[in-house]
Amino acid sequence: MSILHILEKSEFTKSDIVQLLSLNDENVKILFKTAAKIKQDNIGNVVFLRGLIELSNICHKDCLYCGIRKSNALIHRYTLDESEVLSAIKFAYENKYGSVVIQSGEIANSGFISKIDRILKLAKEITNGEIGITLSCGEQSADTYQHWFESGAHRYLLRIESATEELYYKIHPHNQLHSWHERINALNNLKKIGYQVGTGVMVGLPFQNIEHLATDLLFMKEMNIDMCGMGPYIEHKDTPLYQYKNSILPLNERLFLSLKMIAILRIMMPEINIAATTALQAIDKIGREKAIQIGANILMPNITPGKYRNNYALYENKPCTDENAEDCKSCIDTRVHLIKHTIGYNAWGDSKHFLHKDKL
Ligand code: 5AD
Ligand code: FES
Repeated sequence: MSILHILEKSEFTKSDIVQLLSLNDENVKILFKTAAKIKQDNIGNVVFLRGLIELSNICHKDCLYCGIRKSNALIHRYTLDESEVLSAIKFAYENKYGSVVIQSGEIANSGFISKIDRILKLAKEITNGEIGITLSCGEQSADTYQHWFESGAHRYLLRIESATEELYYKIHPHNQLHSWHERINALNNLKKIGYQVGTGVMVGLPFQNIEHLATDLLFMKEMNIDMCGMGPYIEHKDTPLYQYKNSILPLNERLFLSLKMIAILRIMMPEINIAATTALQAIDKIGREKAIQIGANILMPNITPGKYRNNYALYENKPCTDENAEDCKSCIDTRVHLIKHTIGYNAWGDSKHFLHKDKL
């Protein structure tokens, strides 16, 4: 089938998506143009910001790709204290970011759970209830999710990493702590509680092919997600998956494939929020801008205190680890204007898809 025929369809099949993911040259330009137009028509050229706070790199999991996995003894572990988190939140508020994302390695003890809870309540207090808060703190019990929701979190990011169970267990240990079914369960719990739910995958993993990626996009559609963050897999030398570094796509192809994933998802889900992730920037200095031009609408400038940034190394060459929050701010502003977009300051920038769900 010709690309134009596929792009006219209201629903894509798996083989349509595989065909779109395989596009090159002139045809990919048609895909990107279509996605850009759908974004423009549905959500316009506004980019919303979420100040990213990397709360802690302590993690009780051992994902085989991740630099902060429990078994990596080569990194210095840190946890921000409450006052550091709150001053980062204050920075975001004063600079009109509208929202923050609190991200952390996965920890499920009661101390951590109540610390997040206190931070949520204080964050609302010091910002007149105005700051929007997204959490990205891994799998937790339904009770914990409920508790955090009531304390003020309204969005949650939990990447499925791969929607194919078999591939999931090739990139995670196969045990109860890393259960694919539990992860799906967690996503469903978040939805039921009323969060705007985001998920995502890594693109260009060892053992991954484009059928897997097509399955990932269909999974997101099926789950009716509100937000997505996906980006290229980037090998980290102190992780088990590093041994496959010669069997994966070159970095520029991982980036290209990630951009195609974003463009196709934008066409499939016109009103969701899609992040231009930091991993895109790790491969290409203007990778995030490229993503915004073909469908993404969210940027997550890092506002973690500078001295901790080097330690939150999920992958190698993570950008902006030397910067401080002020530098990130002016840099983001310039970058967004250069691609003829504007920043939605002082706004939560909720997922339109979520806001429209009630009306169905
Ligand atoms: N390359 C790219 N992304 C990674 N993540 C973790 N490790 C890597 C890596 N090596 C992503 C995962 C996780 C998110 C916080 O970071 O998708 O969900
Ligand atoms: Fe921390 Fe995967 S290594 S959640």
